[in-house]
Amino acid sequence: MQLSTRHLLGIKDLNPEDISLILSTAEQFKEVLQRPVKKVPSLREVTIVNLFYENSTRTRFSFELAEKRLSADTLNFAASTSSAAKGETLLDTVNNILSMKVDMVVMRHSASGAPHFLSQHIPAAIINAGDGINEHPTQALLDAFSIQEKTGSLKGRKVAIIGDIMHSRVAQSNIFLLNKMGAEVTVCGPPTLIPKYIAQALGVNVSYNLKETLSWCDVANVLRIQLERQNQVLFSSLREYSLAYGINRRLLDSLQKEIVIMHPGPINRGVELDSDVADSGQSIILQQVENGVAVRMAVLYLLSGRKTAGN
Ligand code: CP
Repeated sequence: MQLSTRHLLGIKDLNPEDISLILSTAEQFKEVLQRPVKKVPSLREVTIVNLFYENSTRTRFSFELAEKRLSADTLNFAASTSSAAKGETLLDTVNNILSMKVDMVVMRHSASGAPHFLSQHIPAAIINAGDGINEHPTQALLDAFSIQEKTGSLKGRKVAIIGDIMHSRVAQSNIFLLNKMGAEVTVCGPPTLIPKYIAQALGVNVSYNLKETLSWCDVANVLRIQLERQNQVLFSSLREYSLAYGINRRLLDSLQKEIVIMHPGPINRGVELDSDVADSGQSIILQQVENGVAVRMAVLYLLSGRKTAGN
């Protein structure tokens, strides 16, 4: 089986069969990652560049590890230590790298649409590792994998996405994916951090009440306030935000059921999540990170066009 797309620019472009194929392929790679030798030859002779124009810990290491586990050759690029800092354009940088015979490009950029632009100008397969406030497709895929692993299925699952929806590429990719796979989504946060017409535009429920939302959901995916993407004051203080929308142990204990807590990272402890929630048995935050490697192996493998997953 094959994906319907040549690049992974966003979940928006995938159909449910693509998503199911990536998740089932990731299950096979997760099994590989449990073995004493965690490496397969699937992408031997394939060269991949990781182009990071914006900071990252999880996504950058996860892609690099996924590439190494697949036996690919990897190059790592950080904008701050490259000639991009001397004014070189994105297209010039990428064309120079591609002239060294690179097959695939993983890219994170603060500009929404940067990987889409690149896909129109270069022949290599491109994987979006997060573009501005647009999409973070591999995060949504690893979140879906983790929900499925923890709860058994995505279909019919009630998922709340809580926090700064307005500036979150994770929220947008998760909404696209969960809708395509038959889950029900509620976004919850202060009115200033939720786009005005999101219910009609993206087919989600909207709530401004945290306790009601937590009582409704099976899974809460909690987001960071993206201060770096805000150019105006959208709430009075982090303390006030935390009082209204922070998730603490007392609040979870007041619910009539146990819900699953997720967070894409990095966490602002004491703001959107207290440590006794983030580090509790209800939280699958580190399982999300672990699953990210298998999911990214699946994406790289399927987009490489190679026919046999190494075993
Ligand atoms: N979840 C996520 O994208 O984390 P990083 O910014 O550390 O890659």
